Amino acid sequence: MEHLTSVQDLSNEEVMELIRQGETFKNSPVAVHPQSITMANLFYENSTRTHMSFEQAERRLGYQVLPFEVSQSSVNKGESLYDTVITLEAIGANALVIRHSQNEYYLDLLKELNKHHHKIHLINGGDGSGQHPSQCLLDMMTIYEEFKHFDGLKVAIIGDIKNSRVARSNAQLLNQLGSEVFFSGPEAWYDPQMDQYGSYQDIDQLIDQMDVVMLLRVQHERHSDDPLEESFDPKRYHEKYGINLDRYQKLQDHAILMHPGPINRDVELASELVESEKSRFVQQMENGVYMRMAILKSVIEGEK
Ligand code: CP
Repeated sequence: MEHLTSVQDLSNEEVMELIRQGETFKNSPVAVHPQSITMANLFYENSTRTHMSFEQAERRLGYQVLPFEVSQSSVNKGESLYDTVITLEAIGANALVIRHSQNEYYLDLLKELNKHHHKIHLINGGDGSGQHPSQCLLDMMTIYEEFKHFDGLKVAIIGDIKNSRVARSNAQLLNQLGSEVFFSGPEAWYDPQMDQYGSYQDIDQLIDQMDVVMLLRVQHERHSDDPLEESFDPKRYHEKYGINLDRYQKLQDHAILMHPGPINRDVELASELVESEKSRFVQQMENGVYMRMAILKSVIEGEK
């Protein structure tokens, strides 16, 4: 792997190798490497988990991390993404993690970088409503820790599907790994293109049959053209599509709840359930560091 931009580029073997490497990092936390690798994290969209856990992963691997704040950079003077990337490479960065609001920003960027024979590695930290490969892989690691397989698992992805890069990446990879994927949430926020990965159903028809229930954040920042945004009522959303105590009690004994974060408490998930027995919300964030170490090692050091 020279870059990691989309989960669609990963074979099942590569996913399993990354999960195993993530678990190895988790079970043997000492990982010291020569400080010859330099990284920078370019977050053109806000982030807590992805940004901080990539930075933590980089430091645990012994990499140098160049501090980069979009708001204090020459991006504000109109510098293009390509020019920022080649600037950081010229300064000594070997790899960049980039989060950007534009879907598939990496396609043109990689084309230009290849044309001019640049060697810098790219890792997609999330592109618009496109892909979120590192979140997807940490979710796969969390599911694998629980069930030790993917084949035949019933997974519901519930919420603002149309706007969610997590939904897209997870539905694609779960489908590829042999899980059965279901979708639910407001029909107006469903994307019929997801039909190729699973089927849309009412939340109350699927809740008691799932092994994994994945909740998605309502992404208000992507609703500027959405007629539903003005009339959005968090309480009503919670009643119709959220996990409340009543729905939680209908989950199978072995079922787990997941959420990529940040959570809108009492909207997607009742606040009292965020750290409940079936919730893996904290474990997902913890696994994020180990999976991102595995991704960095694979992309930068060529280790699978
Ligand atoms: N899950 C996720 O991508 O969270 P952040 O936006 O905080 O990075």
